[in-house]
Amino acid sequence: MQDIRVSFTQLFNNTAAIVVQSPGRINLIGEHTDYNNGFVLPAAIDKCVQVAFAKRRDGALHMHAIDLQETVIISTIALQPQATSWVNYIIGVVAQVQKYIANTPSFTGAHELDHGFDICIQGDIPIGAGLSSSAAVECAVIFALNEMYQLGLTTMQMALMTQQAEHEFAGVKCGIMDMFASLHGKSNQVLLLDCANLQHTYYPLDLKEYQIVLFDTQIKHALASSEYNTRRLECEEGIKRIQNKYPSVQTLRDVSKQQVEECLAPYKNLDATLADKNNTISNKVYHRCKYVVDEIARVQLAVKDLLAGKMHAFGQKMFDTHEGLSKLYEVSCPELDILVNAVKDNPHVLGARMMGGGFGGCTINIIKKSEVQAIIKAVTDIYAQKTSYTLQIHQVKIEQGTHIK
Ligand code: GLA
Repeated sequence: MQDIRVSFTQLFNNTAAIVVQSPGRINLIGEHTDYNNGFVLPAAIDKCVQVAFAKRRDGALHMHAIDLQETVIISTIALQPQATSWVNYIIGVVAQVQKYIANTPSFTGAHELDHGFDICIQGDIPIGAGLSSSAAVECAVIFALNEMYQLGLTTMQMALMTQQAEHEFAGVKCGIMDMFASLHGKSNQVLLLDCANLQHTYYPLDLKEYQIVLFDTQIKHALASSEYNTRRLECEEGIKRIQNKYPSVQTLRDVSKQQVEECLAPYKNLDATLADKNNTISNKVYHRCKYVVDEIARVQLAVKDLLAGKMHAFGQKMFDTHEGLSKLYEVSCPELDILVNAVKDNPHVLGARMMGGGFGGCTINIIKKSEVQAIIKAVTDIYAQKTSYTLQIHQVKIEQGTHIK
């Protein structure tokens, strides 16, 4: 990446007051569990977004994306989602901060934020690869605003506000994992996050003779965000049905495997069967909730494996997660399945699965270091034979979270 301070000065004829760097993330296990109050096991990586920032005085936001060579200028007043997606990751956060300021009695009068700012962004997180480049932008922006305007936000508040920005300006009803991991990552540590209460524990990631390799499908199917939101609704539908029998249940975190069978297995759920002649909706809701409840339990067991050094058991759970995501949750795609199948029977691959929201992006693989090059070659060939895309490889390190550069 270029020196962003130099770019900033060339662009805005001004000196950057602050530069913030915010990483992308991987997730070892715990997929589509965050918005179901479950557990996730992410880590921040050495691919990141940088923002350079300085205040203005004319009420305008001057935003420039260095990698795309695009500039957008808008007023700070009455911010609304824009057609340009990267802009929404900035102004979505600004809108949240404006709301926070308006609702915080200690900030009186017109706030300096409304006077506008110059910002430029750049990054090396591959876009659409499921490595949370959008969350990284949002976290970098809120961190810079917090510093520059002395907002006094905790990183916990920042995570929640950036999640809300994504809901309102990007239209994806995402969970908290991506932002949380980007803001709270630590070098060489994975983060077990309990999404029910945001309690988190760091564990050193010692993979011994193994390493993480990401295989990037190079595709992002268009239905990713609409299907993501649909999955959330399907989980909510399942909870409603379970509540008929167990009113105290609030989220899928509170639900046991037995309750899923008892309340959602279609052949036992006569009402739903009558309401839906083909039984497809019932089947879907059953499968979605079964996956999530299994996965929440699986993460907790996987962490025990990791701590006990039982790497094979851990890896097997990654394969099980992929199976569930592909068959029950139906967020995989042929390209991701090809990549997981390509390594499934390889004795040097402990585990592999699709990562993130799905419908494209990367698989995460734990591969024996000495075999990495040979496996990359083999998988690249298989992918070229079976698809019309060229596989990209990312070898990532686990790095610290959002910080000032
Ligand atoms: C996306 C979302 C996250 C999470 C994952 C799936 O990355 O942004 O909140 O739900 O998908 O685990």
